[in-house]
Amino acid sequence: MELVQEAQRFQFTRLSSSSDTEDGADVVAGLAADPKTLPCKYFYDAVGSQLFERICDTPEYYPTRTERGILTQNAADIAALTGPCEVVELGSGSASKTRILLDAYSRRADEVHFVPIDVSESILRESSRELVDRYDGLSIRGFSGTYEQALAALHPAPAPARMFVFLGSTLGNFSTSERAAFIARIRGAMAPGEFFLLGIDRRKDPAIIEAAYNDAEGLTARFNLNMLSHLNRRFHGDFVVANFAHRAIYETRRHQIEIYLDSLVAQQATLLDLDLSVSFTKGEAIRTEISKKFDPGELAAEFAPLGLEHAATWSDDREWFSLLLFRLGNRQGPAGGTD
Ligand code: SAH
Ligand code: AVI
Repeated sequence: MELVQEAQRFQFTRLSSSSDTEDGADVVAGLAADPKTLPCKYFYDAVGSQLFERICDTPEYYPTRTERGILTQNAADIAALTGPCEVVELGSGSASKTRILLDAYSRRADEVHFVPIDVSESILRESSRELVDRYDGLSIRGFSGTYEQALAALHPAPAPARMFVFLGSTLGNFSTSERAAFIARIRGAMAPGEFFLLGIDRRKDPAIIEAAYNDAEGLTARFNLNMLSHLNRRFHGDFVVANFAHRAIYETRRHQIEIYLDSLVAQQATLLDLDLSVSFTKGEAIRTEISKKFDPGELAAEFAPLGLEHAATWSDDREWFSLLLFRLGNRQGPAGGTD
């Protein structure tokens, strides 16, 4: 753990680095599995984060602009509902949509505190520097590392309140069991009366969803293939990226997009630092991501037993995307509660 003072009003704690001993154990496990998988967090090195930003601007990738529209319309209401609070964002990335929330909070208070968390240090630094330049009253104490590492390292609940934010439907990138573990972890980090704002992509015509993950410009394909380049750089690997191809299909029964890298030839790859050699048959696939599409009511019912009370939902007119606000029940806290 290392504290980096990056600028006035911007510091972050580096929780992971390429020298971490645990780093890569998930790659070894995923490539040993049948069928093969790789954790989607490895999409996000400096190149992957930039490619993701470009995907968000493609005509096919509707989630970002739809969520931005919902935030623009409702940020003032969100800020009014929560009152002044510290904003803790999981997987903050460029934080470009977060600015809409920060704008709303800065209109209500002189000081705003932001805690971005992201595994991609380059985008965390870049976005945070831009934010402190833009907002005079903003101070940032970020974390570069995984959600799990950051949630365990968070400072105690500040006054007057805190809101955890998880935008972009990144929740969809977890399996059902991973999602349950993740929500329990967030719940564990929350104090009674605190808020959780969640952006979710909803179920819709599969053709619309499939197009979003197969953009005509080929940026999603580059983003997917970059995972192998990232692994090569990070673990001294020799994946021949040109020997793999991007594939994304919507699995209707599971309500999820599944993203694969298909091996175009029979081949072998080695990751020296992980002491790993792995063989692929021609046509064999590595699943690099799932992206689940949600029903807001089902999700709210899933969160309720944890004490996360559904406070509000905001959606676009087509009901393609929703923002859900939850509040952790508070029997004895100053904000009052209903549980
Ligand atoms: N919130 C932004 C970015 C979404 S992309 C938006 O809505 O547009 C997902 C972000 O989560 C990326 O910036 C990625 O680096 C980060 N991320 C992915 N897996 C992570 C993990 N396990 N721990 C922390 N950050 C992660
Ligand atoms: C970050 N996450 C929610 C994106 C998604 O839509 O699942 C990542 C992504 N993968 C391909 N395109 C975008």
